[in-house]
Amino acid sequence: MVRRLAGTSATVTTDLLPPLTHNADARTYGSESPQAGGAEIGPAHAPTRGLHMITWGCQMNVYDSARMTDVLRPLGYAPVESASDADMIILNTCHIRDRAAEKVFSELGRLRLIKEERKADGRPTVLAVAGCVAQAEGEQILKRAPYVDIVLGPQTYHRLPEMVARAARAGGSVIDTDFPAEQKFDFLPEVAAPQTQGNVTAFLTVQEGCDKFCSFCVVPYTRGAEASRAVASVLAEARRMAESGVREITLLGQNVNAYHGEGPDGRIWGLARLAEALSSIPGLARIRYTTSHPRDMGDDLIAAHRDLPALMPFLHLPVQSGSDTILKAMNRGHTADEYRSLVEKLRTARPDIALSSDFIVGHPGETDEDFEATMALIRDVGFAQAYSFKYSIRPGTPAAGAPRQIAEAVKDDRLQALQALLREQQDAFNASVVGLTAPVLFTGRGRKPGQMVGRSPWLQPVHVDGPDTLIGVERPVRLDARFSNSLAGTLVKECAPT
Ligand code: 5AD
Ligand code: SF4
Repeated sequence: MVRRLAGTSATVTTDLLPPLTHNADARTYGSESPQAGGAEIGPAHAPTRGLHMITWGCQMNVYDSARMTDVLRPLGYAPVESASDADMIILNTCHIRDRAAEKVFSELGRLRLIKEERKADGRPTVLAVAGCVAQAEGEQILKRAPYVDIVLGPQTYHRLPEMVARAARAGGSVIDTDFPAEQKFDFLPEVAAPQTQGNVTAFLTVQEGCDKFCSFCVVPYTRGAEASRAVASVLAEARRMAESGVREITLLGQNVNAYHGEGPDGRIWGLARLAEALSSIPGLARIRYTTSHPRDMGDDLIAAHRDLPALMPFLHLPVQSGSDTILKAMNRGHTADEYRSLVEKLRTARPDIALSSDFIVGHPGETDEDFEATMALIRDVGFAQAYSFKYSIRPGTPAAGAPRQIAEAVKDDRLQALQALLREQQDAFNASVVGLTAPVLFTGRGRKPGQMVGRSPWLQPVHVDGPDTLIGVERPVRLDARFSNSLAGTLVKECAPT
């Protein structure tokens, strides 16, 4: 099978093989890593070279950046905070937002200057572009930015050392945007325990790619077909994380609830069974997963929310629209009422479950009535949190060429109205937990002296006064007050039922 993103040169085979929530801001992995500049990284004989990772986009990119760091470690690369100190710079890109490629070229222009300055000092720099823009733009990147040394798609990170060697040998640029027959998961090194040392929460990718082909979305073209990692490999990574102090794991996948990994018994396991196995790992107190598709929300997974206390009562389940006409045009494969009834089933299984979603306003063909149907769905369901976007054209996707594109001003008005309603619901949800006593998993110190911060089961940051020894511990907290983005609470002895 060949997937072609019309209007681009990206042609990819899908012998091989997520949306996640997206960060607006760039994240620099090196600066977040507890081992930035760490001396013990890499074999004793390998010289330490600086690696500067710039990560844009979703949690899966954050995870991928960590894996690329792992892959490069045996070559002597260790994270550094500043691009000027880096022998290798990787820009891990995201294609989901508007003008993604332009943003990449503008950042590359900045990195080019750093590369040239270093060169003048006799210090060469390998510049690599990874991620979904690399996959979609491919050779275009080398045409427009010939000073880039390596262009690699999300499926070929395990080949990075080979690419670095090839770039050094050839003295030219290397491009690898294949969708190789081998699964990258099988070729990536095991996550070293120090990777998550000191972290109480961690991401773990279990599934990648998407076969749903929603009308507006580039993911099926940039991340390839759905593929799941084998259960044993997931469990091994989760065990290593738990041993290094991780207490909460968020399983990642573009369609994480479509997970169908090979189990140790040779059978295919779904996400519910995987979550059950994970919940018996000593030390692992909490499991979350994101992002899910309503079509893959099976009864076994809904039942797991009833049966597994470790499965947190917070679910990101994007619906995109509340109008059946638009859902059909989007190729979502479900109706608004089917979504409503899923929510009902989830709430029956786990009455305290809170819901989050993604919405798009102004998809081609969306009328005022369609938009009103989305507002009605929001009112019916009640969301604890949500991400909402104006539809924006992704060249090559079916909706890009659809008739009846919506005027920008109309999209603006609809987005404002939608966000006002969602904000109201978020406030109401936060207010509804004040007065409850709930388990909080402490992740670090707060900003004020003597203050600790943790997460509620519903992903809200909670501040309490308490000792440092709380880090990594789950304790009952009475939730006393709410602020715009967090809660304040008091430690209590016993956890009353919430
Ligand atoms: N326009 C607007 N929003 C989009 N998303 C994905 N593609 C587009 C697009 N072309 C949103 C969807 C998805 C989230 C990650 O990004 O709501 O769930
Ligand atoms: Fe994109 Fe739709 Fe696949 Fe989600 S389900 S990644 S929105 S194509």
